[in-house]
Amino acid sequence: MSERATGPAIETSGLIKIFGKNRALDGLDLTVPAGTVYGVLGPNGAGKTTAVRILATLLRPDGGEARVFGHDVLRDPDAVRGRVSLTGQFASVDEDMTGMENLILIARLLGYRKPAARDRTGQLLEAFGLTDAADRQVKNYSGGMRRRLDIAASILSTPELLFLDEPTTGLDPRSRNQVWDIIRIVVAQGTTVLLTTQYLDEADRLAGRIAVIDHGKVIAEGTPGQLKASVGAGSVHVRLRDASQRPGAERVLSKALDAPVQLEADPVALTARVAGEGIEHAAAERAARALSELAAAGITVDDFSLGQPSLDEVFLALTGAPTRNDGLAPIDNPATSEETAA
Ligand SMILES: Nc1ncnc2c1ncn2[C@@H]1O[C@H](COP(=O)(O)OP(=O)(O)O)[C@@H](O)[C@H]1O
Ligand SMILES: [Mg+2]
Repeated sequence: MSERATGPAIETSGLIKIFGKNRALDGLDLTVPAGTVYGVLGPNGAGKTTAVRILATLLRPDGGEARVFGHDVLRDPDAVRGRVSLTGQFASVDEDMTGMENLILIARLLGYRKPAARDRTGQLLEAFGLTDAADRQVKNYSGGMRRRLDIAASILSTPELLFLDEPTTGLDPRSRNQVWDIIRIVVAQGTTVLLTTQYLDEADRLAGRIAVIDHGKVIAEGTPGQLKASVGAGSVHVRLRDASQRPGAERVLSKALDAPVQLEADPVALTARVAGEGIEHAAAERAARALSELAAAGITVDDFSLGQPSLDEVFLALTGAPTRNDGLAPIDNPATSEETAA
């Protein structure tokens, strides 16, 4: 692993990709340190998949440079291909075969001898919670199981760099959690992960650093803490017992949080942005102080929560405009049905 740790896993500068008149990538600059999860956060159409496909040597850029572990994607594509894996692309799973058969086949194609292929397959099925489903045909898997099998197939060979392009979009919360656990296992084994996502909370949980991209450009980059500091640490949501106390609650909250308070359509609900000067617990402390001041003012609170900003709020803060999400999926609210998985 030590020889992997020299230099960044990915470096792009001024990367450009044009489809017709559409600049899918418009000067993308990325530096992804090795050995970590790096989050690329952006709405539909931002250029995430285009960037991943160029980095995996599946698509030629129209300008700029991209290197993977120091190897130029255009001049030295074989060196890049030998080090990367992309879910759902290089590892194509056959619907009519069982999960176990698929993994063993891919392991054999990668050069594992039969007993080693069985061992590695068994370990991965176990680690990914698919042991019980090992002998079922993949066409009978749920969206979440399928997504986990895809990831298992793509790490059979323990790649140095794994691209996960929106691995949880469309999954229910439980399946998302399982995929997150798997990503943590993968990175603990020394693989660098480039994770694209539309969910700030996902990038926040998993990534060491995050690049926010829009219109094919990076519009913000940093640790999750830095990013949240620049956009606000989150929003406080309060529900009162009694609607008649709302004007009082609004005064107390706006003073305690030093922020404008929004009155929701629901007559007992209020929302306020918590300023994010840096660290997360500062926001939690502020929110807690606001709660105790409500109590001190004799206002009864039924429900109180501190939520992270959604991607919409992030974009509003960074660009002054809401996301121009051209897809149909709601972006701050993962779909609840596994069947919608792409
Ligand atoms: N093969 C293609 N032909 C034409 N336009 C494309 C193609 N692939 C992507 N695009 C366009 O490029 C932009 C970026 O797309 P994409 O990289 O898929 O974004 P994301 O993955 O962030 O949703 C979008 O406007 C999309 O419509
Ligand atoms: Mg995409």
